[in-house]
Amino acid sequence: MKKPPDVGILLAGVPLASPVTLLSGCVGFCEDLARIDGVDFSSVGAVFLKGTTLEARLGNPPPRVVETHGGMLNAIGLQNPGARHVVQKILPAIQHLPTRFFANIAGSTVDEYGEVARIFDNSPIDGIEINISCPNVKEGGAAFGSDPLVAARVVETVKRATSKPVITKLSPNVTDIALMTRAVIDAGTDAISAINTLMGLAIDLEKRQPVLGNGQGGLSGPAIKPVALLQVWRIHQIAGPRGIPIIGQGGITTARDAMEFVLAGATAIGLGTALFRNPLGTAELLEGMVTWLRHFGVDNFSKVRGTLNWPG
Ligand SMILES: Cc1cc2nc3c(=O)[nH]c(=O)nc-3n(C[C@H](O)[C@H](O)[C@H](O)COP(=O)(O)O)c2cc1C
Repeated sequence: MKKPPDVGILLAGVPLASPVTLLSGCVGFCEDLARIDGVDFSSVGAVFLKGTTLEARLGNPPPRVVETHGGMLNAIGLQNPGARHVVQKILPAIQHLPTRFFANIAGSTVDEYGEVARIFDNSPIDGIEINISCPNVKEGGAAFGSDPLVAARVVETVKRATSKPVITKLSPNVTDIALMTRAVIDAGTDAISAINTLMGLAIDLEKRQPVLGNGQGGLSGPAIKPVALLQVWRIHQIAGPRGIPIIGQGGITTARDAMEFVLAGATAIGLGTALFRNPLGTAELLEGMVTWLRHFGVDNFSKVRGTLNWPG
């Protein structure tokens, strides 16, 4: 009998039962998902919790989301109850679910990232993802993730604050993703998530004003998939040889999309915007990925990872 495909993966030292993960900001703190019958957590390798800051934040004025062609634009503004509340009240309520949990941390200063990481270090969380797409308040408001030196400082600070695996989530809103990749790997990141949302604008023509209360927002969903695939492939050229895994994300809806990211170099894949339409599709997605493994004649995702035949 043929060996059944092995869908388990190792992500920055953390064993996941499946390469399918749920992305930050798209399932909150998992409270709703935990209440829905029909969520097959055995097909969910890990959940990335909503972006968390040191103190509670109310977020941006509404409207916070708007649908666009092939995607959506959001400016939630990191609404969250603060790191201590997440550790003391939320984690104990979701910990029984049969999946892994990664915190997603954000800050207005480099030091804030360190403090939030320290709070999660002292918790049962499986690892910490750093969202570096936030404005650096002390240094003019440009995103931490747009300057390799600043991004490296954030990663070093978080690494010093925790012994848990650290994943850095790269922003696509940069000139050269290769520079950012090298900077965060040299600073000690254990894994890379790519990509976060692309900055965009939706305009209400009658009102002559932006649709979102915040003005601009982050574009996600199928519209960004080609951008995400190229970024993941570029990151893989640097991260692959150094053994740094990538969580590929950006517009994944189907198993075919997911396998394209695996071919481009992703070890795990993330579902974000797709969950707003169908939060229950993870088992089917994983099954579809396994069917692709059979199609390629292999029994393990690692055997197809990064095997894209680039021309020339
Ligand atoms: C409503 C919404 C909220 C998000 N909140 C966060 C967040 O708090 N932290 C973060 O790192 N990424 C956040 N993201 C980005 C997603 O985690 C993901 O990286 C991005 O949307 C690309 O994947 P997708 O096209 O599958 O949605 C958010 C995305 C959406 C749509």
